[in-house]
Amino acid sequence: MGAAGDIADYQGDRLVSVYCFPEKEAAAAALAEKIVKTSTAALERRRCFSLVLAGGSTPGALYELLATEPWRKRIDWCRAHVFFGDERCVPFDHRYSNYAMAYGSLLSAVPVPPNQVHRIHGEGDPAREAETYGHLIETTLSSISPEQPLFDLVLLGLGADGHTASLYPGDTALQSSGLVTAVDPPKTASPPVPRISLTLEGIKLARTLCFLVHGSSKKDIVQAVRADTEGRYPAALAVAETVSWYLSGMECDEL
Ligand code: 6PG
Repeated sequence: MGAAGDIADYQGDRLVSVYCFPEKEAAAAALAEKIVKTSTAALERRRCFSLVLAGGSTPGALYELLATEPWRKRIDWCRAHVFFGDERCVPFDHRYSNYAMAYGSLLSAVPVPPNQVHRIHGEGDPAREAETYGHLIETTLSSISPEQPLFDLVLLGLGADGHTASLYPGDTALQSSGLVTAVDPPKTASPPVPRISLTLEGIKLARTLCFLVHGSSKKDIVQAVRADTEGRYPAALAVAETVSWYLSGMECDEL
């Protein structure tokens, strides 16, 4: 799968797979293939599949790829429910908005029914929107997957401090029992604005959890997260039935 030997090891009893690629385009193509396979398998069992998009800049190459042929027609987008792992508290068309990034690179080019694109309303009251979005997740997943209300695939990125979604090291949001929470991020957060984020409980609803991380500058934090047994880094606390890392700009034998 990857360029340099992949890694498969265990986080407790869960298999963690790590794939390394020389370029971010190759990592995006491999993850796009994973998304195609996951959606196809889900739609063999259920009417719809559910996908949680990551924010930040790294997923842009993946979203643009999914929006172009042949990938575009390999996913039955009409049967997709699209959610977001987190959102900045800005208007939906603001340059900081994760929804705006995903809309411009993917959602404007694929036929997901508008009522199946579930954006986080960053322009609203964060605490109230966090509660509303949590209920939306519960009702939507119960409707499309009543036997096991889970997300088919959750995409996450990784920050240089080990944050993922908008869950930052040491933040009280890490103890939240809800599915979604308002977050007042540290001053170092970029951009430095309040957020609304899936919690660790929300991320745990993933059947498949995929991290997409690009750049040699993140090699050290990837190593640290993979070695973290004390729960120092939120990304190390993000668990799911299966976890895969799609890495570029670093070699697996360095990790
Ligand atoms: C956000 C993301 C955040 C992001 C990481 C990596 O809203 O910023 O949810 O968790 O994935 O900060 O960001 P880059 O992909 O821009 O490096």
